[in-house]
Amino acid sequence: MSSNNPNLSIRKKESFKIFDDIAKTYDFLNHLLSMGIDVYWRNRLLKRIQNKAELEALDLATGTGDLAITLSKHKHVKKVLGMDLSKGMVSIGETKVKDKGLDKVINFQIGDACNIPLEDNSFDVVTISFGIRNFPDPKKSLREILRVLKPGGRLLILEFGMPKNFLVNAVYTFYFRYLLPFVGNLVSGHGDAYTYLNKTVEDFAYGQDFADWMKEAGFNNVKFEELTFGISNLYRGDKL
Ligand SMILES: C[S@@+](CC[C@H](N)C(=O)[O-])C[C@H]1O[C@@H](n2cnc3c(N)ncnc32)[C@H](O)[C@@H]1O
Repeated sequence: MSSNNPNLSIRKKESFKIFDDIAKTYDFLNHLLSMGIDVYWRNRLLKRIQNKAELEALDLATGTGDLAITLSKHKHVKKVLGMDLSKGMVSIGETKVKDKGLDKVINFQIGDACNIPLEDNSFDVVTISFGIRNFPDPKKSLREILRVLKPGGRLLILEFGMPKNFLVNAVYTFYFRYLLPFVGNLVSGHGDAYTYLNKTVEDFAYGQDFADWMKEAGFNNVKFEELTFGISNLYRGDKL
């Protein structure tokens, strides 16, 4: 089951179309609405990459490629493949990668994270940042990731949660239910993309519940860390 809300379940099957619509303003709004803290969250993920040389990484739901670019800066990462269903998002990622001279290290491919069009045992690291809650079948995606990881490989996921602290939760809930959708919808010019995106956060498993999904899918050494009061969580799991 992917969502408790039937309307969200239907929209998740084609959520990449929403991202096609908002691709041009995505990066600007991402950094504005997160007040730049997304950069810190991506760098925290980088610290959890295995200490092994010559790693090949797959960044699913790569969007405009920010995490793929961050990964390429890790001393042990040799190659990154960014995969997404939104051509609009990926084409912005391709331009950024070319401008940074990283096109020999980072490649992109259009593909579905729930039916990954790649061979078994082919990557050392798989990452997803703020993507999995948009997938129509996140549990299937976790099983697919296990399939494409090499033995000894690691999955690292960043995804939103809700802060546990009462006060922080109250302030954050107001910000993200009202202010963030208002600014996001206004700047992107999309009727309700940012309202939809926020509903997907409140509807999705986080913390121990999501870690349990990873264990059910077959991952080992599953752990999670709350980042910034639990607004975001960093999950990791290994393939034996
Ligand atoms: C919120 S964006 C995150 C993008 C990027 N990872 C980041 O951190 O900015 C979610 C991305 O998930 C992609 N997506 C949604 N469903 C997908 C699927 N089934 N397979 C691959 N990508 C998908 C969307 O197209 C979108 O680019």
